[in-house]
Amino acid sequence: MIYFDNAATSLKKPQEVTDAMIAALTTMGNSGRGSHESSLDSSRLIYHTRCQLANLFNAPNPSQIVFTLNATDSLNIAIQGLITAGDHVITTVMEHNSVLRPLYHLEKQGVALSLISTDHQGVLDYQKISEAVRPNTKAIVITHASNLTGNKVDLTKISTIAQAEKLLLIVDASQTAGVLPIDVTSLGIDVLCFTGHKSLMGPQGTGGLYIREGLEIRPLRYGGTGVETYNQDQPESLPTRLEAGTLNSHGIAGLSAALTYIEKAGRATIYQREQQLMAHFYQGINELPGITLYGDFSTLERCPIVALNIGQLDSSDVSDQLYTEFAIATRSGGHCAPLMHQALGTVNQGAVRFSFSHYNTFEEVNTAIHGIKKVLSN
Ligand code: ALA
Repeated sequence: MIYFDNAATSLKKPQEVTDAMIAALTTMGNSGRGSHESSLDSSRLIYHTRCQLANLFNAPNPSQIVFTLNATDSLNIAIQGLITAGDHVITTVMEHNSVLRPLYHLEKQGVALSLISTDHQGVLDYQKISEAVRPNTKAIVITHASNLTGNKVDLTKISTIAQAEKLLLIVDASQTAGVLPIDVTSLGIDVLCFTGHKSLMGPQGTGGLYIREGLEIRPLRYGGTGVETYNQDQPESLPTRLEAGTLNSHGIAGLSAALTYIEKAGRATIYQREQQLMAHFYQGINELPGITLYGDFSTLERCPIVALNIGQLDSSDVSDQLYTEFAIATRSGGHCAPLMHQALGTVNQGAVRFSFSHYNTFEEVNTAIHGIKKVLSN
């Protein structure tokens, strides 16, 4: 199989990830729940991984990194833990349902939403963000990059608005953590939500939040933490406050190994290769008659994603044909991004999304270009 669905989940992981998880299965006890070696090993590994993530995002304190199940879990914790009835929130049509659905849920409870639009290439209208601010605006909740078009949001511009208007800045880094540089300190990000199983190359079931020091988030889950057993409330301090229940130390061991791989290979080097693969694909199909591409390709500073349609063909049919004839795996349909599809006019057709990993080869990309030409000629 030629796998171009890395924006959903990266499939090929560094061998070290598998090795670390297999070792963890028989060595990691329950972190924070014992003073024997297996519990301590687990605690040490988890603390080390917090440090790796703090380092990746330039967070000053590893205790401000909280582990979760994935980015959806992180976004629910952030959105439901910070926003209450009477608040107004600014978000965008670029968002995934992991942002939109928690916000729609809160809307039913009296939270007001403003949805900022994009142009025809899916590029955000930044001016409209400032214009949307109201006296009761609490937060800007925004993706760092669209999972459909791969377009990057300029977080410096967003951060300037958030700071000027004293708004919380909650960022969905699902598609960018491990790809683009993210400096939570210089960008003044209040909460960064990320997942482990995409470009961080860890396993599914891992993810987390960076939370700015001093920011209090109401817990979404209550339960055991291994500390303050006789306290009826969740402990006050992070990360324990938001980590009720046994942590996924087996998954975190894999994530840690993936982070070590990225540290050694270099995030920028990995990203550069992904950009080259994306550019090669783009150049191979851009001028073919009958192809519609979505997104802004005037800059390569974007996620390694190319979304397209072929004539009026249903995106699922194209995706199926590419898989059946060439074993090329893509994602078609709506991509959990309903408003982005609305903005691009692709609600009925969907789109065929190719998303690249640095493990992909130029030969694989050439096969994809050939596959598209074949579908076009049918
Ligand atoms: N959010 C993932 C995607 O974009 C699953 O495919």
